[in-house]
Amino acid sequence: MQLTLTRPDDWHLHLRDDTALNAVVGHTAKTFARAVVMPNLTPPVINTELASQYRDRILQAAKAYPGFDPLMTLYLTEQLTPEEIARAGASGFIKACKLYPAGATTNSDAGVKDIQKIYPTLEAMQRANLVLCVHGEVVDPKVDIFDREAVFIDQILTPLVREFPELRVVLEHITTEQAATFITDSPETIGATVTPQHLMYNRNDMLVGGIKPHFYCLPIIKRDNHRQALVNLAMSGHPRLFLGTDSAPHARTAKESACGCAGMFSAHAAIELYAEVFEQHGALDKLEAFASFHGPDFYGLPRNADTITLEKSPWTVPETYGFGDDVLVPMKAGAELQWRVRD
Ligand code: NCD
Ligand code: ZN
Repeated sequence: MQLTLTRPDDWHLHLRDDTALNAVVGHTAKTFARAVVMPNLTPPVINTELASQYRDRILQAAKAYPGFDPLMTLYLTEQLTPEEIARAGASGFIKACKLYPAGATTNSDAGVKDIQKIYPTLEAMQRANLVLCVHGEVVDPKVDIFDREAVFIDQILTPLVREFPELRVVLEHITTEQAATFITDSPETIGATVTPQHLMYNRNDMLVGGIKPHFYCLPIIKRDNHRQALVNLAMSGHPRLFLGTDSAPHARTAKESACGCAGMFSAHAAIELYAEVFEQHGALDKLEAFASFHGPDFYGLPRNADTITLEKSPWTVPETYGFGDDVLVPMKAGAELQWRVRD
């Protein structure tokens, strides 16, 4: 069995830097034409100049894949000025800015503490036609970790969308029923990405029979009713839901630790994992639009012109992949996957 798709794009990806970048970029670039590259490096990518240099390093690391086009993002801080936003918009290679509430996730300490402080910056983004990518979780210690996305939607995102009716906003890596409903009820300017892990797993997978650090990512994997809501939204073919893996590599030692890092690595088998979910739900006919049409349509970019072919040909995911001097443990390590991309 074979399935030919317009070449897909990954609308949410962590590529890291230096040896880590060299280790992971090929996993994405071998299959995907474009990827929206997250800016949460240390130090973060906070201006056009840093984004340009980072882009050059990515292109260098991906030189075996000359068609690969990294779409860059700026990391929103309370210091980012409207002038810098105008520069970013004019660059052509920066497509979005990423909002991290300070402290919400990996390398988010420089993020935004008071959303009101960046309203002039958001105004400038609306003018420059840049997309706002949102890590949608509040960080208030009184809010339970499993509720942080729903509370963010109510307290931060709903007022923000009302205030900026022309700003395109992507709620990244959605994990809840509330997020699915928010997207269904939202205007044309609002989109969302969903990861393979949030379509496949619930919190039992992470916590029953022993704590499994490789399932820990943010926003945290929720109860099964939430996974089902995400599956229903994806399988419905919703036109503003698109592929964003949030593939977030960390060294095995950083994950298998008393205080393990958040992030799952899925780039080694990204389209294959999504194909598995869509097939399980009898919706393989919806995969191409989710992976290859909805993202560029939302971002106002052309759809890719070439194709990839998936074939049903089971293979076993390696236990680890190289990651600089270390290794990383990929999603579905040691397990069998049904689909593979034909070379
Ligand atoms: C991401 C990372 O490791 O950079 N981690 C994660 O759990 N998703 C950051 C993020 O997207 O939240
Ligand atoms: Zn991410």
